[in-house]
Amino acid sequence: MRVILNGFGAVGQSLAGLLASRDDIYTSYGTKIRLVGAGDSGGGACLEAGLDLAELVRTKRERGTVSGCGRPADPKEMIRDLEADVLVEATPSNYVDGEPGMTNIMTALKRGMHVVSVNKGPLALALPSLIEMATYNGVLLRFSGTVGGGTPILNYAKNSLRGEHITSFRGILNGTTNYILSNMEDGMAFGDALADARSRGYVEADESLDLDGLDAAAKLTILANWVMGMKVTMPDVRRTGIRDVTLQDVRRAAEDGSAIKLVASCDGSLEVAPVPVSRSDPLCVNGTLNAISFTSEHSGTQTIIGRGAGGIETASSILRDLLDIRRAVAG
Ligand code: HSE
Repeated sequence: MRVILNGFGAVGQSLAGLLASRDDIYTSYGTKIRLVGAGDSGGGACLEAGLDLAELVRTKRERGTVSGCGRPADPKEMIRDLEADVLVEATPSNYVDGEPGMTNIMTALKRGMHVVSVNKGPLALALPSLIEMATYNGVLLRFSGTVGGGTPILNYAKNSLRGEHITSFRGILNGTTNYILSNMEDGMAFGDALADARSRGYVEADESLDLDGLDAAAKLTILANWVMGMKVTMPDVRRTGIRDVTLQDVRRAAEDGSAIKLVASCDGSLEVAPVPVSRSDPLCVNGTLNAISFTSEHSGTQTIIGRGAGGIETASSILRDLLDIRRAVAG
């Protein structure tokens, strides 16, 4: 399986490390994963025989770009011209116009390449069209790392609950805000809790993505399309962030046996808002954890909990999607 990886930040580097460490992939899954191209904002590199994964990571750390390994290549031209089976899109999420991921994904789908995206921007803004484009071109679009990181939330709902009718779900889908709200439960003021989360590297470069609920709304949109069959985009989500949550709100909830959580819910309509969640509800997780409860017609409510972010966790979701594509293509 020949792969182009576009975006070589924490997730891209973790993927390179993961692939280098896994010599069992061929024997276990019958495919060799060869990184034939890699690109980042500083340039790109390609090699039909497969790039040296350790060299890619080393070059990125030393020079800030993968450019300099293999043959030099322009990342955009690579997606247009290089012979490959799958594009892994791992550039940062942008919720204004989805770029550069939007163009990368559309270019790959149109030329008949499968796509694995961990970039949420294009999906949150145009998932119904992108799914249609993939279907039209006879290729697969996978994005299991966009919700829950390494925790297979999308696959659980789509595959493990196959045949069930999921009637609603609600989830804590943003680890950063959950960490901040957990700190506030321990008495820390919002500003201090945010500073603590920042010092641990949890907060997005653009903090608004976490604090104003954009990241949670993007994940909610992806879930609604993939799991509920809705045709929705981010503007369909009613969204309130956590900036106005006070210590007093948190204390009042605690007196009632609850905790304030940023909950993304799909129950007829789509909403992200800070609401009290009972401490006895399995959804009520602390720290950076993610959790989601699916309610189905015959199976009741089931909750899945796990780490929702992180380089290696998300890289593991990419490997999962690549192997899923391999299995689907092999029949
Ligand atoms: N900023 C996100 C979070 C991680 O805090 O959950 C990326 O999805």
